[in-house]
Amino acid sequence: MHSYKRHTVTAALPYANGGLHIGHIAGCYLPADIYVRYLRSRGKDILFICGSDEHGVPITIRARKENCTPQEIVDKYHSLMKRTFEEFGIAFSIYSRTSSPVHHQTASDFFKKLYDKGVFTESVTEQYYDAKANQFLADRYITGTCPKCGNPNAYGDQCERCGTSLSPMDLINPVSTLSGEKPILKETKNWFLPLDKLQPQIEAYINSHDDWKPNVFGQCKSWLNQGLQPRAMTRDLDWGVKVPLKDAEGKVLYVWFDAPIGYISATKELTKDWEKYWKDKDTRLIHFIGKDNIVFHCIIFPSMLMCDGEYILPDNVPANEFLNLEGEKISTSRNWAVWVHEYLEDFPGKQDVLRYVLCANAPETKDNDFTWADFQTRNNSELVAILGNFVHRTNVLTKKYFDGKVPAALEYEKSDLILMEEMSRFPKKIGDAIEAFHFREALAELMNLARLGNKYLADNEPWKVYNTNPQRVQVVLNLSLQICANLSALMRPFMPFTSDKLCSLLNIAPLNWDAAGKADMLREGHQLGEPVMLFEKIEDFQIEKQIMKLHHTKVDNQPPVGATLAVARPQKPEIVFEDFEKMDIRVATITAAEKVQGADKLLKLTVNTGIDVRTVVSGIAKYHKPEDIVGKQVCLLVNLAPRKLKGIESQGMILMAENSDGKLIFVAPTDINAENGGIVK
Ligand code: 2FM
Ligand code: ZN
Repeated sequence: MHSYKRHTVTAALPYANGGLHIGHIAGCYLPADIYVRYLRSRGKDILFICGSDEHGVPITIRARKENCTPQEIVDKYHSLMKRTFEEFGIAFSIYSRTSSPVHHQTASDFFKKLYDKGVFTESVTEQYYDAKANQFLADRYITGTCPKCGNPNAYGDQCERCGTSLSPMDLINPVSTLSGEKPILKETKNWFLPLDKLQPQIEAYINSHDDWKPNVFGQCKSWLNQGLQPRAMTRDLDWGVKVPLKDAEGKVLYVWFDAPIGYISATKELTKDWEKYWKDKDTRLIHFIGKDNIVFHCIIFPSMLMCDGEYILPDNVPANEFLNLEGEKISTSRNWAVWVHEYLEDFPGKQDVLRYVLCANAPETKDNDFTWADFQTRNNSELVAILGNFVHRTNVLTKKYFDGKVPAALEYEKSDLILMEEMSRFPKKIGDAIEAFHFREALAELMNLARLGNKYLADNEPWKVYNTNPQRVQVVLNLSLQICANLSALMRPFMPFTSDKLCSLLNIAPLNWDAAGKADMLREGHQLGEPVMLFEKIEDFQIEKQIMKLHHTKVDNQPPVGATLAVARPQKPEIVFEDFEKMDIRVATITAAEKVQGADKLLKLTVNTGIDVRTVVSGIAKYHKPEDIVGKQVCLLVNLAPRKLKGIESQGMILMAENSDGKLIFVAPTDINAENGGIVK
């Protein structure tokens, strides 16, 4: 444990231009929350600071998209994010916002102080200007052809097709997205932070932190190796904190100058004692962020703090890598994401299941993948089968044999002493892992404690022994209950809602971390509370529904809706309704798909028809990859006589339409509410 007197922990201020998805949570908010809850439970003086980042170009772009003002955008998404964090149990000391007056004042004063100290260099540069819209253009407002790959829709800061970082001047045929006109170059003055001159100080600072996570330290070193460049701290934009200088009309602070100051202003808003959390050397400052924010928190913000001279510097910046979803990059624009506010509606009361899965599978050292199948397995085979099962069995047996009262442990055997010894080591094992930011390992250890409990019950078989030796059962259940009490304390940082449930089941107030590890946490004769289930099984249909939702709401770059075949085949001869009625067409979901050996056209599909689960062989392998269609809802002719294809019996036919190029595309329900088994008529 570090010997600091207090901690200031921050989590990246999310842009108020959308909701929060699992990538945000796994990347920084959940690890930060676990860390803070752990230190709080050890009685440490700690502030946990966050808020909405309400400035910057992403906000103005969203406002244009939604046809409203930037202020309306940030109001809407600030309240959505604030509520989502609260409901998900992210326990900030304060969740503030950068449009607040105290933030504008703090950021403005911070800039002015550096300006007065002569820190900034002034420089006139040429920037793209939209003469029709009468404004300078932020990089994102300019599109053009990527010089690397020829993508005609590259942005002024990046080409999303080839991933190259660009500057607007790199684009071939630049166009303003505001007016569609070709922008002109115009001179403008801005104030720069001379990172080049600060490089030696920053280098010394980074080198004194070679204990940082390798991904973070490595990225910093690579920035330093390239040589730092001066960076403009002001921008020609009308949305943000106004530059507090006379000759800076129409300019605002660079969003990456103002945003991290948001941590300071939020602390100011929270407590009049804010200075000791930012200026006292006995305070440890830690920033939790995602990997795309490393340079800002490890180089630019520390430089700003150094230039001010009064502040402490970040002592650690434990950045995570990215979380992917079902094998693809999470993308807000393509709506390939699991939105936490939607999860909370679809799985009410199951915050801890997602917290558990996102921690167990956190992208701590490399990018990782979230899949709904893994979510279900971790819930059913770990939370229900290991943790829930142990607590449930202990509770039921205590009710059955001892009326729900903690039995006395009169005489320990050797195996009990070994168990107690093992149990005593968990608080330190888990705590050390948390302090090292190894949250996955910490959570795995917590589960090992539950496993230890299960093994102890299995080895001692109280249900068999009771008739012959009830005193032995007293000891076994006493110790099992002590493990439950330990679990309630040690799971709290990870799964606070479940810890509450377990406390009410045990009829105890939440226990502190340092009380854990002992075998006397529950007194003899203590009456347990009402039984509650900690976790419940998640069924296949719940998972299928989520996978379907993902695919249904995904925005793809498809040809415009309603394109017409160049030459459509003539209509077939007329039929009567009774002819049509003979066909039984149902809504169904593909739950598994694989290639058929030795047949390059065929896929073997497992399909949930709502009536049954059956096999269908379909000739679509040339057009669809198995992994792309699992979870897809389709229309299926279910009463077509079965026939064998390559030795596999196909029990139905999936409805497809043929495009002009011969490609078979799905004729599928587009309404998310479609249910398997529904009759198509
Ligand atoms: O990347 C982002 O979402 C930024 N809004 C993070 C800002 S963190 C801090 F500096 F405020
Ligand atoms: Zn490109």
